[in-house]
Amino acid sequence: MKNQTVTVPAIAARKKSEKKITALTAYDYSFAKLLDSTSIDILLVGDSLGMVSQGHENTLSVTLDDVIYHTQAVKRGAQRALVVADMPFMSYQVSVEQAVTNAGRLIQQGGAAAIKLEGGARVANQVQSIVQAGIPVMGHVGLTPQSVHQFGGYKVQGKSFLDSKQIKQDAKALQKAGIFSLVLEGMPEELATEITHDLEIPTIGIGAGSNCDGQILVTHDLLGLNPDFAPKFVKRYAQLSDVIQNAVSEFVDEVNSEAFPGPEHTYNLKKGALKQVNHGN
Ligand code: KIV
Repeated sequence: MKNQTVTVPAIAARKKSEKKITALTAYDYSFAKLLDSTSIDILLVGDSLGMVSQGHENTLSVTLDDVIYHTQAVKRGAQRALVVADMPFMSYQVSVEQAVTNAGRLIQQGGAAAIKLEGGARVANQVQSIVQAGIPVMGHVGLTPQSVHQFGGYKVQGKSFLDSKQIKQDAKALQKAGIFSLVLEGMPEELATEITHDLEIPTIGIGAGSNCDGQILVTHDLLGLNPDFAPKFVKRYAQLSDVIQNAVSEFVDEVNSEAFPGPEHTYNLKKGALKQVNHGN
């Protein structure tokens, strides 16, 4: 039986269900196809692609065209999971008009079913207008990477009374503006638990403890593709960097020793055909 396509209302309805929401990042067709063949609910074309795929230090240089390009590739591989595209830095902060136009491009040109943007009350007008245009919005509060310079680094947010009060107000403002789900990133579990309890929409945590309505990770972190990156909130379910490095080393050795390609990887002419080829008949 073909698995059912995951929809925005189905994700919103998980708030009242026992089943947690599972989400992972995807940036290309091959990964999207593999991830989609599991029961993962959401594929996020995150602006983390700036760091993971493009090798930048942060997400700030990612453009809307970059996200559209990657969303198109992910969409070709995803038949079932909900594809959500991130709005990159400076693609929605300037004005409500800018936000609606750019969110529309992610849906129309990228093929995403929903968009995600960072920030709380200060982007509530943008969220409201995007939702009014018929585009589902996922919110994102806490350690929002686009504000890395304001935070002075990738630091857990909401540790002080005032800071946690602000994040709670932001979550409520976003819910009022119409988001269908909310990413809670880099905050104490106690705060994430309280927000999850207070909201009618589901929360999806990353570095926010176990009581959210779902969890999201960067796929490359979960698969251990970058040996140099091992933050506390990531669990590596595989160590693919070792697998890849070993496979490539073996390939290099076998090419040098002429063990590869073997007869099983080689095309040959039929017996006697070589003579005909050489004599032209
Ligand atoms: O860009 C991203 O990948 C994200 C998630 C990790 C939440 O925003």
